Amino acid sequence: MDNPFKFGTVVEGAYFTDRVDERAFLTQILHSPNHAILISPRRYGKSSLVAETLRSEKRESISLNMQAVTSSLKLAEALYRRFFSLHPIEKARHYLSHLRIIPTLSINPVSGSPEVSFLPNVNAQVVLEDVFAMLEKAGQKKKLIVVLDEFQEILQIEKGLDKLLRSIMQEQQNINYILMGSQEDMMKKIFLRKKSAFYHFGNVIHLDRIPEADFKQYIEDRLPTKNRGKGISDDILSFTACHPYYTQQLAFQVWFELQQGAEIPLSVPTAIEHIIQAHDFDYSRLWESMNRTNRLVLLKLADNDKAPMENPELPPSTIFSALKRLVSAGILIKNGKYVYDDPFFKRWVKRII
Ligand SMILES: Nc1ncnc2c1ncn2[C@@H]1O[C@H](COP(=O)(O)OP(=O)(O)OP(=O)(O)O)[C@@H](O)[C@H]1O
Ligand SMILES: [Mg+2]
Repeated sequence: MDNPFKFGTVVEGAYFTDRVDERAFLTQILHSPNHAILISPRRYGKSSLVAETLRSEKRESISLNMQAVTSSLKLAEALYRRFFSLHPIEKARHYLSHLRIIPTLSINPVSGSPEVSFLPNVNAQVVLEDVFAMLEKAGQKKKLIVVLDEFQEILQIEKGLDKLLRSIMQEQQNINYILMGSQEDMMKKIFLRKKSAFYHFGNVIHLDRIPEADFKQYIEDRLPTKNRGKGISDDILSFTACHPYYTQQLAFQVWFELQQGAEIPLSVPTAIEHIIQAHDFDYSRLWESMNRTNRLVLLKLADNDKAPMENPELPPSTIFSALKRLVSAGILIKNGKYVYDDPFFKRWVKRII
């Protein structure tokens, strides 16, 4: 029997659980003239939620990660490439006739995928307007869905790109946008600040951890033990606090330990130990890269989940800056209070104390 837990890549179908309300809401948005803004910390399941929702949509979609984009021209090129992956160039000539600047299109002989390039010094704004106009045209018969991941990068790519995109997008009628991001502060800055170009551009969906009862059922249905392994799912979830990625990772390892003959009560601690051992080198390097303040804050948080502000060794403003830094580095998550993102790293830090 194959290990039924999956982590790291997008999960769909049998690997996907819960998110019933979020899926219903996202589907509703896609069947309206509106757009969706999806926000959550890293690896909470944004891509999986979108993939699972789009599976039942039967509409064309284009997805792009803004982290890989370095300029507005590169953004336009990437959108063209995605578009011509959906529509073979020879069948999509009519889309090109409306463009003000025609790209040079070719097929990579090795990968077979389309390649797009422009002459140097081309007017990037015109190229970008062109590609969005082409997408709008493509959505005339059936509305197109455009997913832009790590959308907060828009603020870093090029000055004024946010205003330009907003002005283009707000005129469009044939596209539903799903804009997602894991840098919560930046995403809020983009969509919730009055002065921002994308202020109130769409419906915000905050993705939380997976509810405990649902995840428990999911794990128990898949464990290779009779009587649902009495307590195994509780042990897993109390360690991971229902974090989607780490729960699947730990469940995967527990399943493996059980296959290897581990006794049920030892299966979870053994799995945790093996995962920590496998990451020991990375954790050490991460720890070494941190300054004293970060370390003190992390030690305090690993010791007890109380407010790290109560630290007599450092002034509150210094602690606050460290917390902000650690959140933006993805090591902590602010969820009412500050908590570790990675429970295995937390356990590793706890051992130093
Ligand atoms: N609905 C779900 N059911 C079960 N597992 C899930 C679900 N959503 C996410 N996961 C687990 O979390 C992992 C990360 O999911 P996903 O890649 O969709 O998250 P993300 O928020 O897009 O992450 P990133 O910030 O890295 O882009 C998955 O590989 C899977 O193990
Ligand atoms: Mg993702």
